[in-house]
Amino acid sequence: TIMAVGKSAQDETWSGKAAFVLAAIGSAVGIGNLVRFPYVAGDSGGGAFVLIYLLAVFAIGLPVLMAELFIGRRGGGTPIAAIQRLAKADGASGSWTLMGWIGMFASFGIVTFYSVIAGWLLYYAYVMVGDIAGNIGANGIAGIASPAFAGEDADGITGRFGALLSSPGKMILFHGIFITISTFIVTRGVKGGIEKAATWLMPIFFFLLVALSVISLIIGDAGAALGFLFAPDFGKLAADIKDGSVLINAVGQAFFSLSLGSALMLTYGIYLGRDTSIPNAATTVAFADTGVALIAGLAVFPVVFAFGLEPAGGLGLIFGPLLLAFNQMPFGALFGLAFFIMAVFAALTSAISLFEVPAAWAKGDNTLDEATRGRRRVIGSVIIGILIFVIGVFHALSQVPTDAADTFFNSWEPFGSLPVIGERTLLDAIDGLTGNVLLPLGGFLVAVFAGYVVTQSASREELGFKSVSNYQRWRFLIRYVCPVVVGAILVYGIGIAPF
Ligand code: PFF
Repeated sequence: TIMAVGKSAQDETWSGKAAFVLAAIGSAVGIGNLVRFPYVAGDSGGGAFVLIYLLAVFAIGLPVLMAELFIGRRGGGTPIAAIQRLAKADGASGSWTLMGWIGMFASFGIVTFYSVIAGWLLYYAYVMVGDIAGNIGANGIAGIASPAFAGEDADGITGRFGALLSSPGKMILFHGIFITISTFIVTRGVKGGIEKAATWLMPIFFFLLVALSVISLIIGDAGAALGFLFAPDFGKLAADIKDGSVLINAVGQAFFSLSLGSALMLTYGIYLGRDTSIPNAATTVAFADTGVALIAGLAVFPVVFAFGLEPAGGLGLIFGPLLLAFNQMPFGALFGLAFFIMAVFAALTSAISLFEVPAAWAKGDNTLDEATRGRRRVIGSVIIGILIFVIGVFHALSQVPTDAADTFFNSWEPFGSLPVIGERTLLDAIDGLTGNVLLPLGGFLVAVFAGYVVTQSASREELGFKSVSNYQRWRFLIRYVCPVVVGAILVYGIGIAPF
């Protein structure tokens, strides 16, 4: 039996089921839920998309999530070692480790731009603090009731995002602060770093999220938001399904949001104790992540509709026009601050999870003794943090418009238009490559590996479903549904990839 291979020397573990579930939810809940979900839902027409998205989460995402977790736990060690051991135990080729390398590359690639976007959120939180301080300075404590940017005109407010993108120094500073905090947490390890961050930040996040959505539903256009999110237009749905893009967007969003295909949940599975039920934990994570996306929709869309903004605003929705809403409501600066703090917390618990994949690899194998592994975690994480920072600087610079006033940084602008990247900025190119190609490829390989390479008795034992029919349902989805649907998306993703 290969039961618990590598577990004996596994010194890093979650302190319990609750800690693991919180950390996994922390990874899943992030910019994907707060920014990406509202705009993909907005782009894809609202309710009809939400329906397909739910299907994608529970029929495709959830079985793959369970598969990643059990591969990690059964293999043990590091992400690559875990796959190697399982492949060997089941007589399969060692080249399955490619699956781990793809995931590692995807996690690393995502965190390089994720940190830059998180830096924008952090900058906005900082701006709100300055605004509140100014209001209090001018009007005493009553100033706390002021809207954000009182007295500034609409163009000035929405123009703030463009101004940020034209300020490489600001983008680099806040990206630097964010990645420094992330690096510090990751050097502290699984229990003392990642788990502690999640147990502190996630409850505050949930509190702010619920509070903001209630306020938004009260002061915004609740009817329009609820109709938009939950009343599917079946006529439109039928047309969209023929076109295929809704399905592709839904599965892509499910993968991104559940942190799948990046070897990340596989890595979190390595630290998972045998007494935790993978099906139960994975189901909790899927429900929480989906719930947060929907509640985030309820926080964003009522104000979007009340202030006549476009639902399909993309990144610009959160970083531009939403500021206008904060400008037009009482206590707007305070709400704005709460919103951006909440978003930074969510981004932080996701960024450290992405960071942990290369960090776990860097700290080395089980054959090292505990002290050596501990040292290597610190040194490895710091080196990876520096690399993320440097590549992030290029992402930030690739956002700077050519006609921005700063000529020194404009001389870097060619990085935004390298021949291989075509018309896209570096950030868009890495986002497209990871999201449309690497994550679906990782997910496809996980499904095939878990469904065909790992023996049936091994997956049944490791998953430990209480009922045989649930196991059979999982096996059917992982063998037939996931590879076919994800494979189709992959073919499409490569078609639109930035090559
Ligand atoms: N799931 C996180 C989010 O929704 O923001 C971030 C993320 C993690 C995306 C891991 C992709 C990924 F592979």
